[in-house]
Amino acid sequence: MVFLSVCLFSQGQPAFAKGQVTSGEGILLVAFGTSVPEARAAFAKVEKAYQSEFPGVPIVWAFTSQIIRKKLAREGIAAGGIGAGLDRLASEGVRVVRVQSLHMMAGVEFAALARSVLINLQRNPGRFDAVYLGRPLLESGQDAYAVAAAVLDWTAKKREPGEALVLMGHGNEKGRADLVFEGAREIFRQKDPLIFMATIEGNRDFDALASDLAAVGVRKALLVPLMLVAGDHARNDLAGSEADSWASRLQKKGIAVRSDLSGLGEIPGIPEIFIRHTRENADDLCKEPVKP
Ligand code: CO
Repeated sequence: MVFLSVCLFSQGQPAFAKGQVTSGEGILLVAFGTSVPEARAAFAKVEKAYQSEFPGVPIVWAFTSQIIRKKLAREGIAAGGIGAGLDRLASEGVRVVRVQSLHMMAGVEFAALARSVLINLQRNPGRFDAVYLGRPLLESGQDAYAVAAAVLDWTAKKREPGEALVLMGHGNEKGRADLVFEGAREIFRQKDPLIFMATIEGNRDFDALASDLAAVGVRKALLVPLMLVAGDHARNDLAGSEADSWASRLQKKGIAVRSDLSGLGEIPGIPEIFIRHTRENADDLCKEPVKP
């Protein structure tokens, strides 16, 4: 079986070859996946940052979306899910796995990731000595300040004076990450009151965004996805030319819009937050939680 593995998104030689690995540690990077080729630049940036931070450590990708994996397979790109990624790391002789969620917040996708890893561990007892699960991008106040700083630096040169920054998050239909989103939004707006945020599926929807913009009389806005990759949602739901995209609906309200189709993974400073989360987690999923 082949599947998405080391250096799929990077140019040049793999950062490690079999036999070079001595530490026994391996990293599994987990994302939803994207079928948009241009959006994969974000994966490449994240992968490169991990390779330079963890030289010689096997880095394997897992895409959780079956639809995406099937689409990629048709293009000749072999992409695996979480189980395949863990198999691959085990076959590389890895004993200590650092799973890193590349999700924005601990919503439905992150919960499914945690459950998949735990079920995999149950089915393969003793295969790994330790498995750590790195938390998603936005969770602590420190994370929110760091993400806001990275996004503001990235957009500083692109924004015109007085131009609002509109960030589109994904959100979950049942509102799983609504409150984390609100917390992040609060911190982002402390850094810049012209940042406006809403989600496709969450509580703070387009109508809430539109009334926020109207309340301060915003006339122009730069639209940026608050997602790891600028994939289908960014290109269609956010910036697309169809009448129901956020861009079209804002224009209809008299707001001049421009968009920046960079995934967060492409923005300097963002991969470093994931890397910090990978390093920080010392809670081994193979063991009972330690209670005092
Ligand atoms: Co979606």
